[in-house]
Amino acid sequence: MCCMLTEDPKQSWRAFPALQQPAYPDEEALRAVLADLELRPPLVFAGEVDKLKTQMGQAGAGEAFVLMGGDCAETFAESTADHVRLKMQTILQMAIVLTYAGGIPVIKVGRMAGQYAKPRSSDFEERDGVTLPSYRGDSVNSHEFTKEARTPDPARLLGAYTHSGTTFNLIRAFTQGGYADLREVHAWNRGFTSNPAYKKFEQLAAEIDHALKFMKACGVDFDALQYVDFYSAHEALLLEYEAALTRTDSRTDDLYNTSAHMLWIGERTRDPKGAHVELLSKVKNPIGVKIGPNAKPEDIFALTDKLNPEGEPGRMSLITRMGAENIREKLPKLVEAVKADGRPYTWLTDPMHGNTITYGGYKTRRFDTILDEVKGFFEVHRALGTIPGGIHVELTGDDVTEVIGGSEPVGEADLGSRYETLVDPRLNHQQSLEMAFQVASLLNS
Ligand code: PEP
Ligand code: CO
Repeated sequence: MCCMLTEDPKQSWRAFPALQQPAYPDEEALRAVLADLELRPPLVFAGEVDKLKTQMGQAGAGEAFVLMGGDCAETFAESTADHVRLKMQTILQMAIVLTYAGGIPVIKVGRMAGQYAKPRSSDFEERDGVTLPSYRGDSVNSHEFTKEARTPDPARLLGAYTHSGTTFNLIRAFTQGGYADLREVHAWNRGFTSNPAYKKFEQLAAEIDHALKFMKACGVDFDALQYVDFYSAHEALLLEYEAALTRTDSRTDDLYNTSAHMLWIGERTRDPKGAHVELLSKVKNPIGVKIGPNAKPEDIFALTDKLNPEGEPGRMSLITRMGAENIREKLPKLVEAVKADGRPYTWLTDPMHGNTITYGGYKTRRFDTILDEVKGFFEVHRALGTIPGGIHVELTGDDVTEVIGGSEPVGEADLGSRYETLVDPRLNHQQSLEMAFQVASLLNS
């Protein structure tokens, strides 16, 4: 039986240890859902995935910059038109800032349309003497602290698929239907306030407007501006779901994961001998791997031997999440080793996950610490002559109070007023714009 399974490249992961998988009480119900999912249409298409991989390669070479952002954990309840639009708009606004300042194309990737599963450090959560399974994301169970809600329900995998589909539909409509046209930039300036980040954005928008008028007067054809490429990515955590959406491309017979354009493997599941790496080694998508402060060069090489042995540009991104206090000390060793190896990587910084603290019972992060890790990332790459290829941040388009700081600061005492995330704290709309201006000045330096 093992051999039959391992001969099908979509199923080979079953022979490897699989961490962080839900314990479904009803195996039959799970199989029925998976059989259904296997028949559903793909959410993304091979040509789009290839295009993103080429662009990721360009970012690795310094010819483009990657902006990846979105919720830590998307929820079904917040996959509404308004939430999706505000998030996408925030990313597009950040991208304009980065494009204008950096003078290179910005590759826009949402942690959206599929970011519904979370790895957890503990399988169980205890409250007042009651122990229940941890919340693992809306594609597994519900956040509510009851036995029923916390029991993994396979029907939620279908929920993840349909919510991803409707989110994709909206993203495609916005980005291909003219809504995201650069010329609409002024209309996006929502809730203009005295916040310095908004002020700066308004000024930049005016400059762009001016440049566009000039180009129009010169007779430049603007049709291309109506269309924006906007890609999706999520952590490929739930192996059954990801395998069910792995499909053969009829043009080439190659396998693609069609649940998102790009997939990443988390810090907890990136064992080169584990099932997650095995599954993604079989597909053609661009792959990210999270790299924490304890990673050694050998770990990266073992991953590369599986995921990108031939050294295809754009295939593999290393998403470092070391913590602001570690990055300047720990990153150089990895960068030096990788440089000597010669295979291409796209380096991205995730300045969120190494900088989480608890304050007054809230899981939070400080804006300044987040920014400090980004600065450290740029410093290390500049010093070693390598390319800081992009940033990966947790953000929302809403005015939440989850991250402390920013120029219209969220104070420690404000955390409770709009703390809405179910897992990790996100930059709010203003903090996101401000981060974009800060990164823009680093790109320019
Ligand atoms: C995440 O990106 O939400 C996450 C859990 O990251 P990491 O695997 O780096 O901890
Ligand atoms: Co997170």
